Amino acid sequence: MDDYENFNIGYEGEERITDGELLPTDENENILRPTTLDEYVGQDKIKENLRVFIHSAKKRGEALDHVLLYGPPGLGKTTLSKIIANEMGVEIKSTSGPAIERSADLAANLTSLQPNSVLFIDEIHRLNHTSEELLYPAMEDFNVDFMLGQGPSARSIKLKLQPFTLVGATTKAGNISAPLRDRFGIICRLELYTPEQLGRIVRRSASILNVDIEDAACIEIASRSRGTPRIANRLLKRVRDFAQYENSSVSLRVAKLGLDRLEVDSLGLDNVDRNILTTIIDKFDGGPVGLDTLAASTGEEATTIEDVYEPFLMQLGFIARTPRGRICSRRAYEHLGFNYKKSETSLLDWKEFNGNE
Ligand SMILES: Nc1ncnc2c1ncn2[C@@H]1O[C@H](COP(=O)(O)OP(=O)(O)O)[C@@H](O)[C@H]1O
Ligand SMILES: [Mg+2]
Repeated sequence: MDDYENFNIGYEGEERITDGELLPTDENENILRPTTLDEYVGQDKIKENLRVFIHSAKKRGEALDHVLLYGPPGLGKTTLSKIIANEMGVEIKSTSGPAIERSADLAANLTSLQPNSVLFIDEIHRLNHTSEELLYPAMEDFNVDFMLGQGPSARSIKLKLQPFTLVGATTKAGNISAPLRDRFGIICRLELYTPEQLGRIVRRSASILNVDIEDAACIEIASRSRGTPRIANRLLKRVRDFAQYENSSVSLRVAKLGLDRLEVDSLGLDNVDRNILTTIIDKFDGGPVGLDTLAASTGEEATTIEDVYEPFLMQLGFIARTPRGRICSRRAYEHLGFNYKKSETSLLDWKEFNGNE
């Protein structure tokens, strides 16, 4: 086992293996993307509705209504946009909110679309204001109306567009303006996946990657993947390295060993998550502790704690945000092996968070 001390994988620079965002090391993620609704695991309600809408739009020979996909990173929004185009049998053009600097770029995108095709705008909440306004009439009645040039020589141009489907994706549905949101006919909120569903995704990815893996190992990887397919696929690739190193298939033992070495625990928590929890429990008696104090004590940026670490810890019910700061729950204590004790200073917060204990 000591061989593994020299095994140089795990954290790569600042990258977290448990991050749902796309990382540079997620090379050739595309080969793992399902291309049809049937292959797309989970999100059953969304799939069944889309199936009906796509079928009917095709029957009428029309473009599918505009679709807004929202949910945390890595849950399959980009994948679903490609599936929609594929099932409609149309072309897809992909861009993103931050990539559209000038509204003329967006106008160029819109005017070059084939009839009934899909324009995918990722991170649509980051679209600038003038581009967003250009989208309104485009979405509503397939018209664009924009200014060409500046100053006295500027001209207003009106163009008729081919019917198209806008598929927008966002991780921050709250940051989308009401007028934009209202123009989407189909709004889909993607949910975190269950370990069983992630297990099926791991099984499917393993067969594409030609990895020989036990069912129990699929479930082990799945249950440490934070409900997120991107993380499950990433953990599978790393665990495969451990199996190859040992010249074996991915057994439950190898999967556990690999995941432990990567310091991803049984619930998918990593070092930073555990450090945040331990700090609240150990240094602050379980809280409440203010965000800035917590940041200073853990050496993490406050915004990183808030945007990256807390959402999953809150989802597990390990941390709660109260008006007086962050508190840890009994479950967090138990997961980390601490004896649970109520903080003297925060009886009120505890009551609110832990119910009648
Ligand atoms: N429902 C699913 N079934 C199978 N694989 C999925 C599913 N959703 C996502 N994936 C896989 O997870 C990875 C990330 O998905 P992606 O669509 O890029 O996420 P998002 O755009 O929401 O960040 C892709 O490589 C894809 O193969
Ligand atoms: Mg994406």
